[in-house]
Amino acid sequence: MHPLKLIATSAFGIESVVAQELTALGYSDLATENGRVTFPAGDRDIARCNLWLRAADRLLLRMAEFPTTDFEELFQGVKAIPWETIIPENGKMHVTGKSVRSKLFSVPDCQSVTKKAVVERMKMKYRRERFAEDGPVYTIEVGLLKDVATITVDTSGAGLHKRGYREERGQAPLRETLAAAIVQLSRWDPSRVMADPMCGSGTIAIEAALAGRNIAPGLRRKFVAETWPHLPAKTWNEAREEARDLATTEPLQILASDSDWQVFKSARANALNAGVADAITFQHKPLAEFSSKKKYGCVITNPPYGERMGDRAQAEALYREMGEVFGRLDSWSLFILSAHDEFERHYGKKSGKNRKLYNGRILCYLYQYRGPLPPRRREGSLAGEDAESGGGAPE
Ligand SMILES: C[S@@+](CC[C@H](N)C(=O)[O-])C[C@H]1O[C@@H](n2cnc3c(N)ncnc32)[C@H](O)[C@@H]1O
Repeated sequence: MHPLKLIATSAFGIESVVAQELTALGYSDLATENGRVTFPAGDRDIARCNLWLRAADRLLLRMAEFPTTDFEELFQGVKAIPWETIIPENGKMHVTGKSVRSKLFSVPDCQSVTKKAVVERMKMKYRRERFAEDGPVYTIEVGLLKDVATITVDTSGAGLHKRGYREERGQAPLRETLAAAIVQLSRWDPSRVMADPMCGSGTIAIEAALAGRNIAPGLRRKFVAETWPHLPAKTWNEAREEARDLATTEPLQILASDSDWQVFKSARANALNAGVADAITFQHKPLAEFSSKKKYGCVITNPPYGERMGDRAQAEALYREMGEVFGRLDSWSLFILSAHDEFERHYGKKSGKNRKLYNGRILCYLYQYRGPLPPRRREGSLAGEDAESGGGAPE
């Protein structure tokens, strides 16, 4: 099918990060909406985008989009899609669904009408009545939004946050995709020190190391579309080869520490699995012992939120301690993700900017305290660029 439309889905609040990633990968004509970015692409981009996207949840192949208010319309719209161009005779088809503000509100009925229509199309094209469905998997989604049906097929399989490096789990680990998004929002670059002094399983430090070395986050895993016969192995091999060629061994200054010995051990193991252990200096120590003589560094961290009763006071005391410890890093930029509704009061300073993000279902804010940029970057900055703020990502 040419040209294709691909949809990169994401958590609410980080669509613009995904759009920036796609632009950096060379894609254009992006349509950014709530939770997704749609863009035109070709077959090889299914492999490329699955391998490279850091902040996206999944990559979907958009098969059709059409208005519909009754089941017959939905049936005919789905049957008109050339399914035989991607689904082989033995393809195993799952249909998922969702409906928002639409006349067709019964999701199970939409799913079953969609499945019937796909099978009808396959019967017509393959000239047979029954399908074994014991081959590669195709997860088809019928999504209705304000009476418009979007029909997609998932190309990722397991969500893109599953990079394949995290075997051990810390307390409340951050999704890899969210950690990668926060690193990008901070606009940290490899010339600066980056530190996560409450690193848990190390996700933020590992994602920073992967980005700092231009390592494609999906290099160590497989994707469901790799099992699809219409996407030859060559496409995937070439995309992987390109990714390996583009990875660097750039020396990085990333510090990760935590007071909990168990999670600290898991962070080190995860970094080893991700192939970036040499890029991160791990230390088992409490926040109180965190300090640095380096200038213009970047703290990116995700402290406990104190959600359970009893933990709240402990989290608030930790925020006060953070205020003191980070207060000594006068040229640093700080990015702190918390769901505590009074974080800034306990921390003791209002952030220059905050950004609403979701950690799973938990509403959080990324509190941003931007320090000055390193002098080299100030001198080299373009006329009109925000030269005094350590970052200045448009939001
Ligand atoms: C929400 S978890 C961080 C999760 C991490 N971002 C990840 O992806 O796994 C918060 C971490 O803060 C650590 N922590 C809590 N109090 C601390 C302290 N006083 N000093 C250092 N680490 C602390 C906990 O051990 C825990 O690992």
